[in-house]
Amino acid sequence: MTDVRTVILPTPADVARRAAEELTETAVETVRLKGRVAVALSGGSTPIEMFGLLTREPFRSEMPWQQLHLFWSDERCVPPDSPDSNYYAANEALLSRVDIPEENVHRLRGEIEPDEAAREYERQIRAAVEGDPPRFDLILLGMGGDGHTASLFPHSDGLSVTDRLVVHNHVPDEHRGSAPVADRLTFTSTLINAAERVTFLVTGSGKADVLKAVLEGERDTEQYPSQLVLPADGKLLWLLDEAAASRLAVR
Ligand code: 6PG
Repeated sequence: MTDVRTVILPTPADVARRAAEELTETAVETVRLKGRVAVALSGGSTPIEMFGLLTREPFRSEMPWQQLHLFWSDERCVPPDSPDSNYYAANEALLSRVDIPEENVHRLRGEIEPDEAAREYERQIRAAVEGDPPRFDLILLGMGGDGHTASLFPHSDGLSVTDRLVVHNHVPDEHRGSAPVADRLTFTSTLINAAERVTFLVTGSGKADVLKAVLEGERDTEQYPSQLVLPADGKLLWLLDEAAASRLAVR
């Protein structure tokens, strides 16, 4: 059973704060129940403000950093010190500023041969996250202006892969829009939809049209991969600002 909720807040700053609250509350509650918590971060620019909030009070003290295991729902096939790396962005804004144990940061190695990196990550996830398929406690996702999420881009081969957890997805220029880096590593819809919670963070007027198509248009997962996300037995939260939600009929 999927529990789908949409929360619309006035500004991107409100979305960032609500996301920091949800992440911290989920982590505290999950650690209380299970002793550890597994969270996958999204890439892109939207989560950066939330990362900054997590380095400051009250989140800095509330977050169980010692029991928090961080993963990425996708990564570009670049070295970890590349400005195009999702790990690089999270390390700059968050990881280098908090006391999270190094062994709790599970980096997708974009610098090695992509298929080996994907298989290595699958092994890491299976070792660290319970369930078959592994059930993340929380997966954070963004959505591109073309309706992609993670690195599941429109009309890309990765969309149809259901027998893997993580795959190398080559995204040709004609299907990547303004997104950088053609070769990427991404969670598949199988892994995403096994999660306990999936939260989309979507802000800005530039996402309004595609968000309406994704949430209120015809189902077309080849064109709008974000429509693939529907946790089979979990909670899906769309955390939006007014600008991104401005075209939605259902408010
Ligand atoms: C990536 C991201 C991607 C991102 C969306 C939204 O590696 O590119 O994971 O899926 O979440 O493109 O990006 P913005 O937050 O920058 O709009």
